[in-house]
Amino acid sequence: MKNVLVAGGAGFIGSHLCDALLARGDRVFCLDNLSRGTLSNLETAFTSPGFSFERIDVANAQTLEAFMKDAKIDYVFHLAANSDIQASARNPQIEFSATLTTTWSILSAMRNVGVKKLFFASTSAIYGEQGERESREEDAPAPISYYGAAKASSEATISAFCHMNEIDACVFRFANVIGPRLTHGVIFDFINKLTADPTTLKVLGDGSQTKPYIHVNDLIRAIIKLCDQSKGMSVYNVGVETSSSVSFIAEIVREEMGLSQARIEYGTEKIGWKGDVPRFRFDLTKIHATGWRAERTSDEAVRQTVREVLRCKR
Ligand SMILES: NC(=O)c1ccc[n+]([C@@H]2O[C@H](COP(=O)([O-])OP(=O)(O)OC[C@H]3O[C@@H](n4cnc5c(N)ncnc54)[C@H](O)[C@@H]3O)[C@@H](O)[C@H]2O)c1
Repeated sequence: MKNVLVAGGAGFIGSHLCDALLARGDRVFCLDNLSRGTLSNLETAFTSPGFSFERIDVANAQTLEAFMKDAKIDYVFHLAANSDIQASARNPQIEFSATLTTTWSILSAMRNVGVKKLFFASTSAIYGEQGERESREEDAPAPISYYGAAKASSEATISAFCHMNEIDACVFRFANVIGPRLTHGVIFDFINKLTADPTTLKVLGDGSQTKPYIHVNDLIRAIIKLCDQSKGMSVYNVGVETSSSVSFIAEIVREEMGLSQARIEYGTEKIGWKGDVPRFRFDLTKIHATGWRAERTSDEAVRQTVREVLRCKR
């Protein structure tokens, strides 16, 4: 049994990770400032005696250091970041304070306390716009959003802290994770928009944006399988080989909500907002070589998620 800290654990992915770590027998300390996460995401986790929650801003290195020392933390899972990319497109400062500062603060606290194991939730956004070309782990980062830039800077910082302090870090670059407890993204937006106005769905962009969507259960399986295997810093693309278009997702949401009469109004732009990457593909050779593979295609993940999110709302 390990003492693990999940930073950002009340969020969408973090709360599923807490459940999975508890299921494998870890003692889980979930820290979150609840800026986007909610305690209701942790309903299952709270039923476990091995779980505790503290409302803490992990950008505060001193508080974090004291906490890590007291709790005798062995492993840090770092998922605390801004996840509203459109918000930071309007105000880049958000990425500095929420995404980059949290990483620096976590690494400083780990260094001072002597914690040697890290998992980091990175993103495909660090690759920027590559069109139909498959992005590989060794490609140079070329982010076009402030979010992608803050994650690429975080990865560079992790690399230095790993080298200087003998920390082992497992870094996953993923994108468009979907499933129950979603806090943002296209499915979340479409369901909320159609709930507010069942007659019309206004889509950002022309609907042709096409990306791979991975179900959170597939992602969590990959984290649990690989998080303990890194020596130094290991980076993996994590995703599915297939993709779904925004127009397909709009149709599925409308159909599953029983609103076939609703009008879908598309914009004229190829992108939803400046900094959005309308198409991208991952090279998944490295993660597939570990034996992990997503169980669902992108379209299957989309339909399953729409059903799961609607079931939770009823
Ligand atoms: N969801 C995706 O498609 C996706 C894709 C690539 C990478 N990621 C990364 O995965 C991680 C989790 O994403 P998510 O989709 O679950 O988002 P989320 O917003 O649901 O979760 C992030 C959590 O971090 C918390 N948080 C933010 N700043 C904090 C701070 N200073 N102190 C303490 N807690 C803080 C938020 O309250 C939230 O609960 C993030 O780092 C995100 O960048 C997500």
